[in-house]
Amino acid sequence: MHFESPPPDRAATVCTLAMPKDTNALGDIFGGWLMTHADVAGAILAFRVVGGRVVTVAVNEFIFLEPVFVGDVVSFYTDVARIGRTSITIDVSIHVTRMLPPGGGTRHKLGASLAVANATLTYVHVGENRRPRPIRPTPTAGHHHRPKARTAAPRRTRTPASPGRPPRKNRGA
Ligand SMILES: CC(C)(COP(=O)(O)OP(=O)(O)OC[C@H]1O[C@@H](n2cnc3c(N)ncnc32)[C@H](O)[C@@H]1OP(=O)(O)O)[C@@H](O)C(=O)NCCC(=O)NCCS
Repeated sequence: MHFESPPPDRAATVCTLAMPKDTNALGDIFGGWLMTHADVAGAILAFRVVGGRVVTVAVNEFIFLEPVFVGDVVSFYTDVARIGRTSITIDVSIHVTRMLPPGGGTRHKLGASLAVANATLTYVHVGENRRPRPIRPTPTAGHHHRPKARTAAPRRTRTPASPGRPPRKNRGA
């Protein structure tokens, strides 16, 4: 799944700042820079889920929606799209927060979040011999890609039947 806006219930897998050294000949951020970070973000989630070494076997799709500029804070959100026998496919949603006005003006508000690219990459779990090995997802990996329904403890409410915690006494000296 690709996120149209930054998901409120999870942190970006990778978050970084676009710098002048990352620009192309036009002065915009080079697409390959975004692809590098997307590959790294996908690999981090793949590694967490399979619990071991992964290699990138395919960039299934990479769509650039909006240009990225120097000074943009770029966040890479990841989600598991599919787990096969030895391969795992990760969706990467890339959003920026625009901190500086880019040259030539912008139709986006400074400080607002903006989706700039979507990618899907496939990784293969490999052993030390670099050959594919079956994936057995780690038990702790679930929350990285399948948010569980929240089972929050019942909240204390201040009702006449349940007055809640009494006000704390000031134990000053
Ligand atoms: C990844 C690698 C080990 C796979 O070896 P292989 O002999 O093709 O292995 P298999 O044919 O058994 O395929 C392994 C899995 O990859 C998947 N796969 C292979 N080619 C694929 C492709 N083009 N797109 C998507 N998935 C692919 C297969 O479907 C299989 O998945 P599954 O087990 O979940 O069904 C081998 O291709 C390799 O070492 N590639 C280089 C990886 C690398 O160095 N990446 C960094 C590049 S700088």
